[in-house]
Amino acid sequence: MEKAQNKEGCSPGSQLLNPDSRPQSGLSRLILHQFRNYQDLDLSIRDGPVILTGPNGAGKTNVLEAISFLSPGRGLRSIKLSQVTNLKKLNQDTSSPPSWAIAATVETDLGSVQLGTGLDYTASGNERRLIKINGQPAKSQASLTEWISVIWVTPQMDRLFLESASLRRKFIDRLVYALDPVHSERVHRYEHHMRERAHLLREGHYDPLWVSTLERYLAEDGVAIVVARHQVVKSLREAQRQEKGYPFPQFHAEMTGDVETWLENQPALAVEDLYTEKLKASRRHDGEVGGANIGPHRSDFQVHHLAKQLPAELCSTGEQKMLLLAVTLAFTRVQENYRTCPTVLLLDDVAAHLDDQHRLVLFQEICGPTRLPPQEGPRGLFQVWMTGTDRSAFQDLNGQAQFLTVHNATLTNGF
Ligand SMILES: Nc1ncnc2c1ncn2[C@@H]1O[C@H](COP(=O)(O)OP(=O)(O)O)[C@@H](O)[C@H]1O
Ligand SMILES: [Mg+2]
Repeated sequence: MEKAQNKEGCSPGSQLLNPDSRPQSGLSRLILHQFRNYQDLDLSIRDGPVILTGPNGAGKTNVLEAISFLSPGRGLRSIKLSQVTNLKKLNQDTSSPPSWAIAATVETDLGSVQLGTGLDYTASGNERRLIKINGQPAKSQASLTEWISVIWVTPQMDRLFLESASLRRKFIDRLVYALDPVHSERVHRYEHHMRERAHLLREGHYDPLWVSTLERYLAEDGVAIVVARHQVVKSLREAQRQEKGYPFPQFHAEMTGDVETWLENQPALAVEDLYTEKLKASRRHDGEVGGANIGPHRSDFQVHHLAKQLPAELCSTGEQKMLLLAVTLAFTRVQENYRTCPTVLLLDDVAAHLDDQHRLVLFQEICGPTRLPPQEGPRGLFQVWMTGTDRSAFQDLNGQAQFLTVHNATLTNGF
């Protein structure tokens, strides 16, 4: 069994955690079982940023991926659930279906909460995610966002502005979950109703009254989704730092789509009516093509580099990464005004690719509880987890972060 070791060589179960050093906000304990290259890991987390360093293939990103499963969806690698199961276990035990589990203790304003998730199967054998909150099964993955929000920047997201709009919508929706926990329930319900309508339209024989009711639900939730995203994107624009010499680029960001355009000059209730009418008019088309022609599932999150006067997708790879970090940093400032539930920010392999100036500003802004001079601020609302192969990239955080060395799925506490 591979276990996290602290520097004295003991296994830091929660009973060994000094309560004074427990984070005010975020994870205080993380347990992994049969998750990727970890057979069993039990990790206690102290206050302040958590830095994972170690060679390629050690298991750093896997830890971040496990944390990302404490939010709705398929994790930061967007993967089929069974692929996450530890391969060694799979090969040893071919009689039972793949399984894995994660448990976390999360410190919130309301006290500690135990979150659990793992791979489970429906009666018909389909994979699904089991979610437990304080030991009780939760009704949906969306329930997680009432307790914690998890956002991330990974090397795969270097292409966020070049990839499909669905990835950008997911990115924005995660930010909205952090500020408005009802949003994920709304998105979940919207998708459910859309699938149900699409199924009925495809079959061809349906009760028009029921389809009209579904369209009304879609319009109500759809408009609410657009409004919530719009508010967050507007806050991001307003929260960006504008002073001279700030190293991250200034940006213009907006959500675009039909419903967004209608809302520019009509009140929400009128847009709901218009949207319902449009859905009714496109039944035949939607029945043939599937999905729905209009709605927030077709919106896009568009970002412009102001100094370059270019849309993000035309900027260089490096500029796109800086834009993404600028948006993420703006989000950390927006979140300070909300304080809903703890937000965990996962930065996979980000620090190593920044120059000294960008890195220092990034650390100053995100390391909340340990804000580096000269910036003073309230205690952080975030828990930040960062990875890298090079320990020296994090030297500005010496003495202020929990450093963990990862080697072959074993974590060792360092300085
Ligand atoms: N299902 C799995 N079972 C066992 N090992 C896995 C599984 N999936 C990925 N791995 C292994 O996990 C290792 C660590 O991956 P990762 O966390 O991405 O490393 P890094 O420290 O470079 O971020 C890789 O060597 C990979 O092959
Ligand atoms: Mg990695």
